[in-house]
Amino acid sequence: MSTVPTTNRKLMDWVNEVAKLTQAANVYWCDGSQAEYDRLCQDMVKAGTFTPLNPKLRPGCFLARSHVSDVARVEDRTYICSKSKDDAGPTNNWANPDEMKTMMSGLYAGCMQGRTMYVIPFSMGPLDSPIAKIGIELTDSAYVVVNMRIMTRMGKAVLDKLGATGSFVECMHSVGAPLKPGQADVAWPCEPDPAKKYIVHFPEEQSIMSYGSGYGGNALLGKKCLALRIASSIARKEGWMAEHMVILALTSPAGKKHYVCAAFPSACGKTNLAMMQPSLPGWSVKCLGDDIAWIRVGEDGRLYAMNPESGFFGVAPGTSDQSNPNAMKTIVKDTIFTNVALTPEGDIWWEDMGIPAPAKAIDWEGKEWTPDCGRKAAHANARFTAPAAQCPVIDEDWQNPAGVPISAFLFGGRRPSTIPLVNEAFSWEHGVFMGSSTGSETTAAALGKAGVLRRDPFAMLPFCGYHMGDYFAHWLSMAGRTDRSKLPKVFFVNWFRKSPEGKWLWPGYGDNSRVLKWICERIEGTGKAVKTAIGNLPTADGLDLSGLKTTPEDMKQLLAVDPEGWKAEIADISANYDKFGDKLPAALKKELEGLKQRLGV
Ligand code: GTP
Ligand code: SPV
Ligand code: MN
Repeated sequence: MSTVPTTNRKLMDWVNEVAKLTQAANVYWCDGSQAEYDRLCQDMVKAGTFTPLNPKLRPGCFLARSHVSDVARVEDRTYICSKSKDDAGPTNNWANPDEMKTMMSGLYAGCMQGRTMYVIPFSMGPLDSPIAKIGIELTDSAYVVVNMRIMTRMGKAVLDKLGATGSFVECMHSVGAPLKPGQADVAWPCEPDPAKKYIVHFPEEQSIMSYGSGYGGNALLGKKCLALRIASSIARKEGWMAEHMVILALTSPAGKKHYVCAAFPSACGKTNLAMMQPSLPGWSVKCLGDDIAWIRVGEDGRLYAMNPESGFFGVAPGTSDQSNPNAMKTIVKDTIFTNVALTPEGDIWWEDMGIPAPAKAIDWEGKEWTPDCGRKAAHANARFTAPAAQCPVIDEDWQNPAGVPISAFLFGGRRPSTIPLVNEAFSWEHGVFMGSSTGSETTAAALGKAGVLRRDPFAMLPFCGYHMGDYFAHWLSMAGRTDRSKLPKVFFVNWFRKSPEGKWLWPGYGDNSRVLKWICERIEGTGKAVKTAIGNLPTADGLDLSGLKTTPEDMKQLLAVDPEGWKAEIADISANYDKFGDKLPAALKKELEGLKQRLGV
């Protein structure tokens, strides 16, 4: 190795210490250059980790296939190691931080034998933003390096900003697969035993330790680990918010622009909403972010949101020219695909891509696949990693270091029944109640059974770095940090209602612009609404349904208040609230009681 490209003593000492512990064969400091990215991609082609796609069809694109044990986030292996168990709260796994560190050191001892340890300096947020956070990820995965280069601002400029004395979040990562001398490597090294994977956070020290997985949020530590779990804990102390939210700009035919943030659980439609092509003529959506928003009170008292990421790690299956044409245009080049199928022409394919299945393909496990073989060609949590700058509808302000002022917060989830298409909160407190009672059917984004209803408050259940009851209180406290009239209006949406036969009642995707239009009108005071027990719903003629085929009967269901369904809903919300004991804010108990009274249950 040549000279070390930093004068930061703390960083040098940490790198030396970890190199010694892990017995890495080499240490490589990433500069973040295109040449370095290209070289690492070629190394991975040689190693069999990457398959280059046909340069005529997908220039600069690669396919990776993960190990079958390593396909999604592992929530039951994810820990918040605060000093006190109570600070992690009832929704997080907790372990004593000292004991956890000792155990992790044991796992890390010798874990990089035969491998290079990469030092990845990265910034969450534009480098010139006063609220950006610097992290350093140490990893033995070149796949992680090239994904981090797309998802974060990465490389030499970050070390320059860090300087000799700057502080950073320590992000330690290993796939947990040391190589003995002469041992051949595999395409996707990882620890195959699920019980030996650990994704661990130390919020008080602002550090992260991850072991055993190379996939997504388990391994790209800037994303869920730093920008949500660690950042949410910092945000609470500093009076701002780190949220699992898209940021989008909506412009009306009259040219009025509103910025909106939306929190939906994993694989529930954030990327689709963030870059939607509205079906309503004259309306436009521009994208500022598809997964994470850091939100602060600005000088004018409004809430400003900034996307800390610089790329999209998006769900591939279901992405098509019909559902998300702008995502399809984003991934035409310089994109990494993981766990999708490979066609004989050297292009990619997945279920519901909007084009006929190839007569044969290689599936995500590397096996021969035909349409009638009875298996999915792509894994349900197959993903693309693409630079945000490639999105044809990226907003001009997406890298604005101050962020953009938010007019509305949306919450939502996959709810086949009960929850209406759209519902406006009466007040900030009612809006926080809606966020806290968010529920969704589970998806393939996390290991475990999909399609089971679970409460996922604010879509943050897997990502809140402290006690969820304190997090509710933090949301409520935003009303005391500014003039209430400046707070965003809050809405609950549900694109996922189903008929008894299991068909979608609402067309979704670009037609969600009809709901966004009503939301804009409500912000501006012109939208027509009826006050119900659960919130303000659009009147029968409140939504612009021009050109839509949805039947009046289906529309009625989509906008109805179903007392029986709400009875069950309230019982489930109450049971979830019980988890938080004394930490459940009184204002939310009051909201729940108010809802019960209004419904007469
Ligand atoms: P993460 O990246 O895991 O945080 O997910 P996400 O919230 O960004 O989810 P995404 O937009 O990738 O959507 C996931 C799945 O939901 C895809 O299969 C989409 O096709 C589907 N989906 C998105 N929007 C809609 C909609 O309006 N209606 C229906 N029926 N499905 C949708
Ligand atoms: C999610 O699961 O919410 C994601 C994908 O955005 S991952 O980066 O794996 O967390
Ligand atoms: Mn997400």
